Amino acid sequence: FSPLLTDSFGRRHSYLRISLTEKCNLRCQYCMPEEGVKLTPRGQLLSISEIMTLARLFVREGVDKIRLTGGEPLIRPDVLDIIAELRKLEGLKTIAVTTNGMNLARLLPRLKHAGLDLINISLDSLVPAKFEFIVRRKGFHKVMEGIDKALDMGFNPVKVNCVVMRGVNEDELLDFVALSEKKPLEVRFIEYMPFDGNKWNFKKMVSYQEMLDHIRQQWPNLEMLQTGHTDTAKTFKVPGFQGQMGFITSMSDHFCGSCNRLRITADGNLKVCLFGNSEVSLRDLLRSGASDAELLHTIGAAVGRKKKQHAGMFSISQMKNRPMILIAGTTFQQ
Ligand code: GTP
Ligand code: 5AD
Ligand code: SF4
Repeated sequence: FSPLLTDSFGRRHSYLRISLTEKCNLRCQYCMPEEGVKLTPRGQLLSISEIMTLARLFVREGVDKIRLTGGEPLIRPDVLDIIAELRKLEGLKTIAVTTNGMNLARLLPRLKHAGLDLINISLDSLVPAKFEFIVRRKGFHKVMEGIDKALDMGFNPVKVNCVVMRGVNEDELLDFVALSEKKPLEVRFIEYMPFDGNKWNFKKMVSYQEMLDHIRQQWPNLEMLQTGHTDTAKTFKVPGFQGQMGFITSMSDHFCGSCNRLRITADGNLKVCLFGNSEVSLRDLLRSGASDAELLHTIGAAVGRKKKQHAGMFSISQMKNRPMILIAGTTFQQ
């Protein structure tokens, strides 16, 4: 593995998340401020050829999984071309997407044909009216249709991401678990995380332990499953259920020690940690005609500066970062 993508704590970064757009067809409360975010002018976003130049370099240095995110990645007009081009990269084993599911059912056959391997879909409520309250748009049935079609087409695993917020959807945990009884999907409960403009506060966060205790009351015989060293989720199964559940515990029990992720924002910044605000513009370097060696030098230096772990939930809730919509993290907005 390339020393360039290995940080000073020995973590090897083989998983790259690339944000394809800052735009979204939903407006989730936990992802963006109510008034929206200032979008970067189109000419300052990475083009497909710039994305491919960077992807090729990262794959050459050892990245074997790329996840496309946003904004909502499936609204980028050339998303199928990007996937098809990525598919040609030797050494890239997995191409994944995290989507809000709104356009999924319609695009799935073409996504599969282009070479997509894995899909994570955001869904925070099983009650249509509450879904609309959280995402500030209509579309519940379209998302459910996307989930079912992804399963029918044999995508495996299909993961459903549910950000749990007290007073909003924490009363639906058991219904979400029940969704995995007949459908072979992985429901992932995500601790609510602070980002700029999302009005996070500690009281709204429901911790992993609290969620688990609640679910155990209904299903005391939950089994904990083995997970990969670098997985974000701790996973469990109710015996007899086709699917399973996971918990992403970034707040109460972070997993920074095994972090293998890097991010490129839609405007071309390399971000070595989701909760770190040091960024370096790869776009500006590319546009100044930098050589591969110069790009690699800058990437290596940024990885070398990566901190051991995030600063803790209270510090990160005070720190200046981007709203989630502008990080290669999510799938929502406008
Ligand atoms: P898999 O590749 O299926 O493991 O997906 P993932 O969990 O990496 O990605 P996804 O886009 O589905 O994100 C699910 C949740 O995990 C979101 O809330 C992300 O913000 C969070 N997440 C993803 N990567 C990281 C990370 O590197 N650090 C932290 N703390 N959280 C992350
Ligand atoms: N806290 C936790 N998860 C979040 N996501 C977006 N914003 C937040 C937040 N504040 C999740 C979305 C999406 C994933 C990539 O990130 O639900 O599924
Ligand atoms: Fe990695 Fe930073 Fe997330 Fe920790 S907070 S897992 S170091 S990206």
